[in-house]
Formats: sequence, C-alpha cells, structure tokens
Amino acid sequence: MIVLGIETSCDETSCSIIKNNKVLSNVVKTQKIHQSFGGVVPDLASKDHEKKITIIVNEALNKANIELSSINGIAVTYGAGLLGSLIVGLNFAKGLALGLNIPLIGISHLEGHLSSGFINNTPNFPSLSLIVSGGHTQIWKLDDINNFKVISNTVDDAAGEAFDKGARILGLGYPGGPEIEKIAKIGDPFKYKFTIPEVKKNKFDFSFSGLKTSLLYLKNNLDKKEKYLIEDLAASYQHAIVESLLSKLDRAISTYQIFNIMIVGGVSANKYFRNYALKIQKQYNLNLIFPDFEYCTDNAAMIAMAGYFKLKKKDFSDLSIEPNPNIIYK
Ligand code: KG4
Ligand code: ZN
Repeated sequence: MIVLGIETSCDETSCSIIKNNKVLSNVVKTQKIHQSFGGVVPDLASKDHEKKITIIVNEALNKANIELSSINGIAVTYGAGLLGSLIVGLNFAKGLALGLNIPLIGISHLEGHLSSGFINNTPNFPSLSLIVSGGHTQIWKLDDINNFKVISNTVDDAAGEAFDKGARILGLGYPGGPEIEKIAKIGDPFKYKFTIPEVKKNKFDFSFSGLKTSLLYLKNNLDKKEKYLIEDLAASYQHAIVESLLSKLDRAISTYQIFNIMIVGGVSANKYFRNYALKIQKQYNLNLIFPDFEYCTDNAAMIAMAGYFKLKKKDFSDLSIEPNPNIIYK
C-alpha cells in the first residue's frame, strides 16, 4: 500500500511517500520568511505553501521513484493549524484524490505526531505518549492507536512556545528551541534555579508561563547588576523546561504503572531532553521511543503513516472535509 502524505499546517511545506510502513521519501521545506518577525506570519505562510506545494510533491515522488498512478491514498493534515495554510494542503490533496480517483484521508496534526513514533519503531501498548510541540503539551494514555485518553495538558503555554518565548527574551532567533539548545551546550544548566510549576487541579498538568516570566525578571535583574553568560541562562531555562516535562511524565508512569513511553513533537528533537529522559528510562526500565530526528518537527511522513493506518481500516474522509484550525483533545 502506497500513501502520499501532505503537511502544511504551519510553516513547513512537506510531502512524503510511504510504502506500507516504510518511508520512501520525506521532503520538508521550512519557510525562512518568518525569521525576521520572530514568529509565523499566517498570510505569508499560506502564500509560500501555494508557491511551493506542487514542486515539493513532485520532488517527493521523484525521490521515492514512484508514479502518481501507483498511489493508493492521499493523507493530509486538516487541522489543527493556521486556516490559510491548512486550506492550501487540503485543497491540493482533494484535487489529487479526485483526479486519481483514490481515497482522501484527513489526519489531525496530533494524530500525525503520535504516528511519528511508529516510523522505524514498533511501539507496545498500553502506552503513555508525551506530545511536546509548539502548540501542544499533553500526555495521552493509549490502549492502542485508536483508543486514547488525554490525562494531562498544559494550562497555559506549550513547551515549544516556552522555548520560543524564552529565546525572544534572550535575544535569540526563531524557532527558539534549536537556538536555545545550541547555546545551552556551553552553559551551566544548574547556574540558575527555576521553580517547577505545580498545577493544583491536576498533578499531571503542565504550566510554562511562570517559567518564562521568571526568565524575564532574572535577565532584567542580571542586566542591571552583574556580568553573566547568556549561555548559562539558556542552559538553566532549558533544564527547567525539561525537568518540568519529565517530572510530570514520571508521575504519570508511577501512577498508571505503564512503561511503554513515546515522546513526540518538535521539542522531542532536543538532545538535552533526550539524554535527560534516559534517567527515567533506567529508573523504570522503560520501553522508551523517541522518533528519529527528522520525524520530530513537522513533516509529512508522520501524516502519511497515520494515513496508512486509516487506509488499512478503510477509514476515508469525504471530499467535503473542511479545515479545522482548532481540533481540541481534552
Ligand atoms: O511539532 P512542531 O514542529 O510544530 C508544532 O506542531 O508546533 O514543533 C515546533 C516547536 C517550536 O516551538 C520549536 O521551538 C520547538 O518545537 N523545537 C525545539 C527543538 N526543535 C524544535 N525545542 C527544543 N529543542 C529543539 N531542538
Ligand atoms: Zn507539529
């Protein structure tokens, strides 16, 4: 079974071809136009997707050495994301499905991130999945790929957002995660201590806006008083985000006694995070899956993989499916 996946929910234009569960190609073009704005500008994003999508789909087909006529289904992100950007990918996918007379499979972006854990890996169930991206920070308890319950959420910013906003405070570029990670490598993660926020309502929930405010105050104070290294600030802030993520995950593991763990989404590309997670892996003897790096941040391979699971079950979408910028899992 060959699936063509398309992802255009934010600022990555991506197309991937997978054959059964093997990735044949995964072309991802990250838009550079947003860098000077310190965040994604929706109008510019959708225009750029329009400009690039045909070229990228062609490139993915060529790399995979696959003819359009051998594709069995088109998987596409229909939400959550930026409306204009979603429309570009969804309409392109509808046109392809209609022209080739093959099924269209609408995929939610989070389902896509979850499916990234299945690329080159075989997860076991039940499993706890920590989804950490620019828009989401949630723990899902999965009995299998189709059966899940959200047991934890962020009450304010997402972890990726905490990296992005923190980077802005530190005068670094966008996206903030890789920028902070880069300079944190030569900083001291224990130089400054941040309090890890607790959420009274649910002991598994996350909160990051307090960390960001603490960083701002700390930097303002340091600016007035003493010489300091921005690298130490970045490393200590990164440590606090990672500590917060893993302390709540640790709690969920010990409460639910589930030892199959997936950590997916853009922030899971962070090497400090991945290394730190090895500590709890050892402690609980976890079966811990991080996607390969190229499948952590937004990509179409994860969408194609989610599409492959649905195609097998003949779970198709109608051609009238609409983009949904706010799919909420609670
Ligand atoms: O999953 P993703 O590509 O898009 C969303 O669905 O949001 O995640 C993007 C987020 C951004 O906030 C970015 O700063 C963060 O993931 N990110 C990272 C790293 N790479 C991307 N955060 C920390 N360390 C990284 N290496
Ligand atoms: Zn994403």
